[in-house]
Amino acid sequence: MGIREDLVRIGEEMRAQLNEATTSQQLDQIRVSVLGKKGALTALLRGMGQIPAEERPAMGQIINEKREELTALLDEKQQELKQKEKEIRLQKEALDITEPRDVPEIGAVHPNQLVLREVLDCFTGLGFDVVEGPEIELDHYNFELLNLPKNHPARDAQDTFYVDDNMVLRTHTSPVQARTMLSRKPPIRIVCPGRVFRADEIDATHSPVFHQIEGLVIDENVTMGDLKGTLDAFAKKLYGADITTRFRPSFFPFTEPSAEVDLTCFNCRGKGCRMCKGTGYIEVLGCGMVNPKVLEMCGIDSTKYSGFAFGIGLERITMLRYGIQDMRLMYEGDLRFLRQFR
Ligand code: DAH
Repeated sequence: MGIREDLVRIGEEMRAQLNEATTSQQLDQIRVSVLGKKGALTALLRGMGQIPAEERPAMGQIINEKREELTALLDEKQQELKQKEKEIRLQKEALDITEPRDVPEIGAVHPNQLVLREVLDCFTGLGFDVVEGPEIELDHYNFELLNLPKNHPARDAQDTFYVDDNMVLRTHTSPVQARTMLSRKPPIRIVCPGRVFRADEIDATHSPVFHQIEGLVIDENVTMGDLKGTLDAFAKKLYGADITTRFRPSFFPFTEPSAEVDLTCFNCRGKGCRMCKGTGYIEVLGCGMVNPKVLEMCGIDSTKYSGFAFGIGLERITMLRYGIQDMRLMYEGDLRFLRQFR
């Protein structure tokens, strides 16, 4: 009974090989060498033609049983190897997420932006909305509606960049006042931060591009007292309770009366120092009661409503705040400068 013995031998050989096998590839080779087209077991089945016809069914059954037994063994081993390989792979791929890495360099917020945030915080806290307007502006809003008609001498003082006859790079944030009065009904309480442009020279205190924060309040019975109270609150919020405002008469076509406002020097707290040139005060903004002519041009009944407006130079208060001596430092992007604000 050669076939039975062959079967036992094939089985034992395969078991021995399986014990040695450590990879799926080795397992595949074993599978092919036993069950494949040219495999040992397949050869036995092929050899069935040699045995007497009446023994064939019984032999066929034995061989098939062996085939199933060996297939099951192979499958079991395959599972085992797969599991092992997976464990090895997981070990190899494991990341130590606690391992310290190089920390990417984190940028700093620009000092102008730091001060702007404080200013906007202050005014939103007082109930103002933040509104923005276009940097390329129509002459109509930048000048005309602000009581600066064509040929008005004050236009020269603004060193305007003209885009064409009707369009300019806005020379101040005041046109946002006009736009807002035309689009909203009183009561109006807004601040408008933004970039402005003037054909100025470049030096320690001048730049052709800088920033302003415009303010506008329109309601019934708004007085100069409200203006003073608002700006006092702003000064104290930003620089401390001992800081006060000082109003000096001035002129702007869009306000009447107009004032320039100084704050107690926040360097010497009013005693007089180099920063305030010994005066104890520092000029920070222009303001006034909105000219009734402007109200009317912007569709607001000046017999019923009044208002105040102000324009703060952002660079100026930033420089004073941080003791920055030269405005150019704020635009050059020198990391040695910017890193100090981290
Ligand atoms: N627009 C003025 C300027 O750029 C600043 C200013 C002054 C704005 C008085 C105002 C204001 O709203 O009332 O010089």
